[in-house]
Amino acid sequence: MNNQSDSVEFEIYSKFDHENVRGEIHLDDAYKFLRKFEDDVAGIIFLDPPFNLGKDYGNGKKQDRKPRGEYISWLNTLITESERVLKPGGALYIYHLPSVATQITGLLNELLQFRHWIAVSMKNTFVRGQWLYPAHYALLYYTKGAPSHFNRPKLNPIKCKHCNSYIKDYGGYKKIIERNGINLSDIWDDLSPVRHNSTKTRSANELPVKLLERIVTISGTVGELYIDPFAGSGNGILAALKAGMHFSACDNEEQYCFLISERIQEELEEGVGISL
Ligand SMILES: C[S@@+](CC[C@H](N)C(=O)[O-])C[C@H]1O[C@@H](n2cnc3c(N)ncnc32)[C@H](O)[C@@H]1O
Repeated sequence: MNNQSDSVEFEIYSKFDHENVRGEIHLDDAYKFLRKFEDDVAGIIFLDPPFNLGKDYGNGKKQDRKPRGEYISWLNTLITESERVLKPGGALYIYHLPSVATQITGLLNELLQFRHWIAVSMKNTFVRGQWLYPAHYALLYYTKGAPSHFNRPKLNPIKCKHCNSYIKDYGGYKKIIERNGINLSDIWDDLSPVRHNSTKTRSANELPVKLLERIVTISGTVGELYIDPFAGSGNGILAALKAGMHFSACDNEEQYCFLISERIQEELEEGVGISL
């Protein structure tokens, strides 16, 4: 059953149907985009919305500034739609400032099952007024009921660049750690912001590919649908694609829809490795 109250027409910016991978890019508004889906279809939905900080995402209109209450209500409409569209057991991830994350957890806790508040260390911010230096973003991870898929990524223990010995003392567990790796925790402090021109695909707000690869590793399954309503550079889509997921993504800026479509095309031409 589809609980959408009205039918919504969509213009698809680009469409991909390549061997086992199907996907679409929509040039549209994120809420309208989410409204088009049937109930219970997505394995993962990833929301990385504009932070309401007055940023210009490229059209010069600086739309990213709403009164606080209006902004939170807008996020809540996206959360409600995401819950509808997720499959039972599917995962919703939301990346935001901790101050905003605390305001949306009320609705999230009502609709979905809390899994983690992942602290993603990002040291590209500034200290202001009477506040501590803000050094993390919140990556909220919720599922629709019990998770249908969960893989815990393993990390390699970190070694000192100079002496090549382990930074932490693992005592009697050293051999096990070397064999099995370290369990990923809910503090991700090993991701670097995308700053360098050599790795950047757009001017700002691009999340590290590793962050998106982790999300897909934790909750992704081959053949399921990954939905990204604020796709930006397309890093999330590429991570999903490489994991063998289908995708449906959206951005309201034509330049990003173009960029994402080009990147997907290149990836498909090079041959996508399914890694899950
Ligand atoms: C924070 S960025 C997302 C960055 C992306 N996760 C990445 O790694 O590149 C937000 C994106 O959402 C787009 N956007 C802003 N408002 C939107 C809306 N109402 N609907 C759809 N896209 C929107 C912006 O153009 C921008 O590319």
